[in-house]
Amino acid sequence: MMRAVLPPLRLGVNIDHVATIRNARGGRHPDPLRAAHLAIEAGADGITAHLREDRRHISDADIARLKSELTRPLNLEMAATSEMVAIATRHVPNACCLVPENRQERTTEGGLDVAGQRSHLAPVVADLKDAGIRVSLFIEPELSAIEASAAVGADIVELHTGRYCEFAAADDAKGVASEVARLAKAARDAAALGLEVHAGHGLTFNTVAPLARMPEVVELNIGHFLIGEAIFGGLHGAVRRMRALMDEARHKVAGRVSA
Ligand code: PXP
Repeated sequence: MMRAVLPPLRLGVNIDHVATIRNARGGRHPDPLRAAHLAIEAGADGITAHLREDRRHISDADIARLKSELTRPLNLEMAATSEMVAIATRHVPNACCLVPENRQERTTEGGLDVAGQRSHLAPVVADLKDAGIRVSLFIEPELSAIEASAAVGADIVELHTGRYCEFAAADDAKGVASEVARLAKAARDAAALGLEVHAGHGLTFNTVAPLARMPEVVELNIGHFLIGEAIFGGLHGAVRRMRALMDEARHKVAGRVSA
């Protein structure tokens, strides 16, 4: 039996919360860069870090060190502000993922309103692309947001998986099924428009497989769960297990497609 060849599925490990723990004491430990090296050793393909306006976790100095010392791509998450564009164009990460940012939120709560902010986002996307940075927009899995992302010139959309993961955490099987279907359709729609498809937010060992089975999805960005899980099993073990679950799901669907 021939196996269908699916594009490889990359794992981007978000190390923000290593910095959250470091900042709780204000010192240098635990060092996000050390976590980044360990994650790569364990199978991560890239590192993601969110430089927030309030610098609550990752700092400017972290971004400089990550960019100069990492051997794998850096994906810089940031708000679409002139301050962040200046930082990004100075460091030139492999990619920037533009996210909505609300000072009071605990984490990125929803996707970008790309359709409503076209005139603001288009020049930001253009400036980043002109600097040689790939641009990703973090969006809800909705056709209007996908079409608007293509229209403003994004290279990539990152589909927000938060709602799906909330249904999963609440053991709501109907909600999970409808969100998985919505994400799968969004992945197909985005790929059909020539956008690279990433996904992330809230993913865990229990929720990663349906995303990993979607052939259009080529990157998952995962942070909070891995850093939390590392408390119990070590970051190395946590990343290795995530890698294995992603690969297993990918190979199963490849076998099925070609059967
Ligand atoms: N992708 C984006 C755009 C995000 O903002 C975040 C959270 O920083 C993640 C992925 C990772 O989410 P989590 O930390 O819940 O895995």
